[in-house]
Amino acid sequence: MKENLSTRIFSAVDQISRRIHPALLRLAALPVNYQIKSKDNILYESARMIDMAFAYCHNNKIKGDYAEFGVFQGRTTIEAFRASKRFGFPDMRFAIFDSFQGLPEISGKDVGGPFVEGEFSCSRSDYERNLRRFKADLSRFDIVAGFFDETLPSIEAHDRSISIAFIDCDLYESTVPVLEYLTDRLVNGAVLVFDDWYCFDGGNRNGEQLACSEWLERNPGIRLVEYQKFHWAGNSFLVNRT
Ligand SMILES: C[S@@+](CC[C@H](N)C(=O)[O-])C[C@H]1O[C@@H](n2cnc3c(N)ncnc32)[C@H](O)[C@@H]1O
Repeated sequence: MKENLSTRIFSAVDQISRRIHPALLRLAALPVNYQIKSKDNILYESARMIDMAFAYCHNNKIKGDYAEFGVFQGRTTIEAFRASKRFGFPDMRFAIFDSFQGLPEISGKDVGGPFVEGEFSCSRSDYERNLRRFKADLSRFDIVAGFFDETLPSIEAHDRSISIAFIDCDLYESTVPVLEYLTDRLVNGAVLVFDDWYCFDGGNRNGEQLACSEWLERNPGIRLVEYQKFHWAGNSFLVNRT
């Protein structure tokens, strides 16, 4: 019944739009085009990616924690928390890592790229306030503040299993310790998301792509299966262990 109604509405709109001059239709599409070109598209696309990662874990019964490396003001964390509710992961924990001072000093292979020291700076208290505003249950969060190369190597081995890892730290130098931390913690079938896969010149000589190809060379027991691409820079993979 519901489907019939929506099909009828769709076909009525289709019929009407065929009688309108294309120039006028283009005018009507301006707000949509604006959204596609604006940052909203990025927001929507990462929310869609996170939703898909949770749907995939739900349907394949892949269990573990959600980990996010680079959280800024908490937008993607909030999306992940909401998705955990929608897909029925009431016990999932959220491992959160950020300097809460923005990007580190740009050094080594990241020099000359598009990123700037201190960019995306948001204090931990502002981040937590944003989470509370969207009713996230902070008792399920383990927040580690500090630069990754200082915090991640000192964390106890085997402290958690991770089913979804969202890497959004822009730089090669930041991604290296993140992947090292994930090596023994990603469960078989986990979703590994890179928000900045196609930054720099889009190839694997820089950024997250370079860190990932070096990590795979060091860890022949890990194979990545292509999964979803999202917005202009993001890519994701499924982790297969042999
Ligand atoms: C683009 S923002 C993250 C955006 C967030 N995921 C979102 O979509 O709303 C990048 C974040 O990575 C963090 N970051 C980058 N490199 C880091 C490092 N080496 N150590 C700690 N945090 C880092 C920055 O502080 C910043 O919050």
